[in-house]
Amino acid sequence: MPFETAVVRAAPAGYATPLLAIAVARGGAPPSLGELDTGTGGALARLFEAGDFSGKRDETAVIYPGGPAARVLLVGMGKAEEVTPAGLRRAAALAGKRARSLGVPNAAFHLPAEARGGVSVATAAQMIAEGLAQGVWQYTEMKRPPEERRPVLERVELLLADQSEAAVAGHRIGAALGAGQTLARSIQVLPGNVCTPSYVAGAAQELATRHGFEITGRDRAEIAREKLGGLLAVAQGSAEEPRFIALEYHGADGAPVVLVGKGVTFDTGGISIKPAQNMEDMKYDMSGAAAVLGTFEVLGRLKPPVHVVGLIPSTENMPSGTAIKPGDVITSHLGKTIEVINTDAEGRLILCDALSWARRYHPACVLDIATLTGAIVVALGHTAAGIMGTDDALIEEVRAAGERSGERVWPLPLWDEYRDLMKSEIADVKNSGGRPAGSISAGWFLREFVEGYPWAHLDIAGTAYTDREDPTRVKGPTGMGVRLFSEFVLARAGNGKQGGAKGVDGKSVKGER
Ligand code: BES
Ligand code: MN
Ligand code: ZN
Repeated sequence: MPFETAVVRAAPAGYATPLLAIAVARGGAPPSLGELDTGTGGALARLFEAGDFSGKRDETAVIYPGGPAARVLLVGMGKAEEVTPAGLRRAAALAGKRARSLGVPNAAFHLPAEARGGVSVATAAQMIAEGLAQGVWQYTEMKRPPEERRPVLERVELLLADQSEAAVAGHRIGAALGAGQTLARSIQVLPGNVCTPSYVAGAAQELATRHGFEITGRDRAEIAREKLGGLLAVAQGSAEEPRFIALEYHGADGAPVVLVGKGVTFDTGGISIKPAQNMEDMKYDMSGAAAVLGTFEVLGRLKPPVHVVGLIPSTENMPSGTAIKPGDVITSHLGKTIEVINTDAEGRLILCDALSWARRYHPACVLDIATLTGAIVVALGHTAAGIMGTDDALIEEVRAAGERSGERVWPLPLWDEYRDLMKSEIADVKNSGGRPAGSISAGWFLREFVEGYPWAHLDIAGTAYTDREDPTRVKGPTGMGVRLFSEFVLARAGNGKQGGAKGVDGKSVKGER
């Protein structure tokens, strides 16, 4: 059952719900909760007075006040003047996570006016919707259901102090981003025997049908006919059919934003095979593709005035009697020849063809997103994605969208000095430059195939999935890239760079955060 949130015009006092979550800043019980507290016989005040709860960040307390709200869940956000959009998202995620584990079928979330800090109502509503969707996510479909089935949290109602149109507009954006992130995660989490390239194509087709996007999905024969030589080379070792997927959302005229996502549904490394340790995580090697699909879910829901194309090259990377071998020379879609030094550097081989294919759209810009290098984990850990590109203004625009979305990116340099790492003795370029500057040399490889548009590349190998459980995160897929790409395209829709100057439902996307 899909999870949903909605803005409801109601005060928290007297609101009947199995669980009422309240985000509170540090200090005493918020005065605006006085009426609620009277209704609960002063339980809230006693909780604060006892010192059992003070509103520190990530602090939670559950009370059973015996009123219309069966449970009240308090979630701390830290000092009121330091409440930020990211802090609100975090508190909502934590509330969602707790509500889910308490086993309630529905809940309400209230943000007292005092606890909003300087954040606008629209942004607060967006952040809460995003956070709730992020926090409640779980994947249990492949487990046998427990004998005693607990209800699954299906709906959370937002009780905001200010029930203005801005709140409804902000919530609509947040709910869409949350749904996009959920879609991405639910595809990412699938194992390689389920999520094959044809499965990815099926998911894209489902989106296209539901939202009215244009779509093409090319099979192995068509990939060969179109001379997508890199994708064909990686796919030649696999019994699974590859796909080259193109999605198009035409919300405005003018040059499109093209999003390219790496869709390797399982990366064994090929003949340059990976060690067995953690190889199961390589089911996540299609996370770039999932980010693009999740962004299209957002586009389909919000219908912003912007033109966006999504390109997904998808294949497995397998060792076999027909697989590419180290030393093989292949010809890319652009016509440049590539010496395959390492068959495990397969992502760049499929992305370079998509980057050349993108030229036919005369893009306003191209952003690619990929779990591309282990080296980016060494450089930035699991906190930020790496970004590289040909255009400083574009990189800054993506970086800013990353900050707003809470999906951070940090730049690495593509200086000319690094280009030599990818020089080949026999071909135009080689696909591996060895260990030094591994993420940058991968970026340089891609750059060799970028012609005629501003371009940026996001390396999400460290951020696409997590093996750590924390107050707001769940082990497994993160949906990294969906919120970032959505903020990016919504900002472009809002500022008229793409022809449409209207913004999304009257909400200024550039507005105060
Ligand atoms: N899919 C991997 C990158 C990766 C590593 C993703 C760790 C997630 C976690 C990619 O295809 C790969 O194997 N890259 C190689 C490149 C090398 C052979 C030049 C790497 O990073 O080791
Ligand atoms: Mn690889
Ligand atoms: Zn890979």
